[in-house]
Amino acid sequence: MTYVLQTYGAAVLRHKAEPVDRVTAAVRRLADEMIRAMKKHEGVGLAAPQIGKSQRLVVLYHPELHPKPLVMLNPEILKRAAEFFELGEGCLSLPGVNVNVSRPSAVRVKYQDLKGAMRETEYEGLMARIVYHEVDHLNGKLIIDYLPLDQRLRFEAQIKRARHPTRATGEKPS
Ligand code: NI
Repeated sequence: MTYVLQTYGAAVLRHKAEPVDRVTAAVRRLADEMIRAMKKHEGVGLAAPQIGKSQRLVVLYHPELHPKPLVMLNPEILKRAAEFFELGEGCLSLPGVNVNVSRPSAVRVKYQDLKGAMRETEYEGLMARIVYHEVDHLNGKLIIDYLPLDQRLRFEAQIKRARHPTRATGEKPS
């Protein structure tokens, strides 16, 4: 299976992803592929929509905090800490972009593992942030959505100009 990393502007990144009903061989292959893609692009997490699959599947990894890649099917945030903290975040779907995002300092998440077993785990700090970021992807939400409106509009205009340089510079398209 080959994948294409989906970047800002791809419709799939804005869809609410579909639940994974059954753990099939195809789901396991997709999880493997996502772990490979995440590591290749040096990410600490990846959601299926980011490789064009609108399914509720995420993979997470952190060299120190969680060296063994974690696969979550249908993750659901059950509880979040009242305390928030802000940190700069990047996203493989928004190359070169870093946005300060305020997120809860801890989350309790329920998910299914690749054997189909239900699990519930609590994460703190950076891991909680990664879980949150990936669950956002499943709901069509991106880090730029956390920006104040004026900054977000400026960012979107920048992306559009980068996509259509001929329009901005008046050069003829070739
Ligand atoms: Ni992301």
